[in-house]
Amino acid sequence: MAEFTGGDDYQAEFDPKAYLEYYKLGEGTLGEENLNFVLKHYCKTFTSGVVKGDTLIDIGSGPTIYQLLSACESFKEIIATDYTYRNHLELEKWLKNEPGAFDWSPVVKYVCELEGNRGKEAEKEAKLRKTIKQVLKCDVHKSNPMDPLILPPADCLGSSLCLEAACKDLNAYRVALKNISSLLKPGGHLVLSGDLGCSFYMVGPKRFSCLVLREEFLREVLSETGVFIQEFEVLYRDDKIIDDSCDFSGMYFIVACKGKAI
Ligand SMILES: C[S@@+](CC[C@H](N)C(=O)[O-])C[C@H]1O[C@@H](n2cnc3c(N)ncnc32)[C@H](O)[C@@H]1O
Repeated sequence: MAEFTGGDDYQAEFDPKAYLEYYKLGEGTLGEENLNFVLKHYCKTFTSGVVKGDTLIDIGSGPTIYQLLSACESFKEIIATDYTYRNHLELEKWLKNEPGAFDWSPVVKYVCELEGNRGKEAEKEAKLRKTIKQVLKCDVHKSNPMDPLILPPADCLGSSLCLEAACKDLNAYRVALKNISSLLKPGGHLVLSGDLGCSFYMVGPKRFSCLVLREEFLREVLSETGVFIQEFEVLYRDDKIIDDSCDFSGMYFIVACKGKAI
């Protein structure tokens, strides 16, 4: 079993550029199939007209923006967050369109096609840049993950591949989910995606631990937190693709709604 890698390991050794290798489309990689799966579900969720509002907070954004491309059509303001300052810098670089920023254009193109807006890539990038108003520090292990800031409760909370990376065991996951859901308004939506059955993933030469998640556990912990599942999609790994950068068995995509009383 991989040794647990916590906040200090992320701060010292999570290289955003190496991580972004997972998001290079067009190379037939394992990442590509997963990315297509979540992008289709993000598109469906955020164009449904049900999941919308003023503010969306994305928890553990890392250096990535793919998870926000459809959301920026349904929210006036997006707040991106992460534990590490290097991820903040990488995101800021893309937001300011600075030289050396990661090229998201193949992913943006794919999302525009999904949304029926082929050829509108420049508008989409501009819209997302305008909608992401802040990039903030967050720690899912704190009861207020945004401490010392106190944010007004959001209409929607997104998080992809973060809690399983940040939590040492299922109990820590339980607490972290409760912590982040405190940032959500009653009646607000939680859009959660990530890996099932994954114990590690590589970022360049560095191995990061991952908490092994199963569908039953996710169902149980969400219900315990007072967040009711509206959609639970799973994509199982295509075994034909050989890749030893990560040992996940599937991907999940969940849309849930916070009950009025927890
Ligand atoms: C696997 S990456 C996911 C990044 C991005 N959301 C994605 O979908 O690719 C895990 C992220 O969790 C962040 N993270 C680790 N520990 C954290 C913590 N305690 N609180 C918030 N974020 C944390 C890391 O900095 C990293 O960016």
